[in-house]
Amino acid sequence: MPLVTSKEILQRAFEEHYAIGAFNANNMEQIQAIVEAAQEERAPVILQVSQGAIRYAGLEMAAGMVKIIASQVDIPVVLHLDHGTSFEQNILCLRAGFTSLMFDGSKLPFEENVAITRKICEVAHAVGIPVEAELGQVLQITDKVTPEDVERAMTDPDQAAEFIKLTGADSLAVAIGSIHAMRSQEATLDIDRLKAIRKKVNVPLVLHGSSGVKNESLLEAIENGISKINVATYLNQAFMRGLREGLEKMPDEVDPRKVLAISREYVKEAVREKIRLFGSAGRIDSAGGFVSPRKVFGVVKPGTPE
Ligand code: G3H
Ligand code: ZN
Repeated sequence: MPLVTSKEILQRAFEEHYAIGAFNANNMEQIQAIVEAAQEERAPVILQVSQGAIRYAGLEMAAGMVKIIASQVDIPVVLHLDHGTSFEQNILCLRAGFTSLMFDGSKLPFEENVAITRKICEVAHAVGIPVEAELGQVLQITDKVTPEDVERAMTDPDQAAEFIKLTGADSLAVAIGSIHAMRSQEATLDIDRLKAIRKKVNVPLVLHGSSGVKNESLLEAIENGISKINVATYLNQAFMRGLREGLEKMPDEVDPRKVLAISREYVKEAVREKIRLFGSAGRIDSAGGFVSPRKVFGVVKPGTPE
């Protein structure tokens, strides 16, 4: 089916207390793995490309591949810009047919972040495209990042409420203890802070840097209002595991497809695992629409779809 906007599927997840997996991709095999896993799990899915992925694959190529693959399945697929750091990048993606944008002004002073986010929202909303913004800062893992740095960069709940009022952003990425690009699931989240943000902010909340967060903490975050969870490093690790295994098993192979197919399969399994954990599996019926709201049948916890 044609791409859908993130507004449509995040609102639903927000109301029904599960999270949509937002998976990063850089190449055809990763895009195929993500969409195939979501299709088999009957889950709405967000496929996101970062500025680095756009530099690697090319904007039209990245957008084109996602549009083609989405047209071959009957689940809602969103094409999202991840961590767009300029007005120009967002507008280029809007023109290329992205159905969801992000402006990451988290390193900027509050007023500057507000001004650029608002400007992008005005343009994108005029053509029905939603915008994710970031306040507080989800740091990158380095040897130098300390727990104090992470704490200092966290989102302030009152400022978050003010930010949404001033910008009109459709969803908000919050810093609550995760760090980008961790290689093992060791972090726990500040759930009290998340609850305080949730009380004051009425748009879907987004968790970045999920690869390093413990599963229990992810489930608690979903229960307390996280509706979109970004996953990148975990999928890259699966891809590289496939490459290494393939090359080890077939050191003399000259056909790259033999090795890349293993990577694709490993990424697909990693996506499937996350979709089930986030509670988004089984949400789409065989006609491509949402199944009846789960709450009709009683409270269903994230991670335990019927
Ligand atoms: O924007 C992308 C994500 O926040 C991914 O973070 O690589 O730690 O999973 P991750
Ligand atoms: Zn991120």
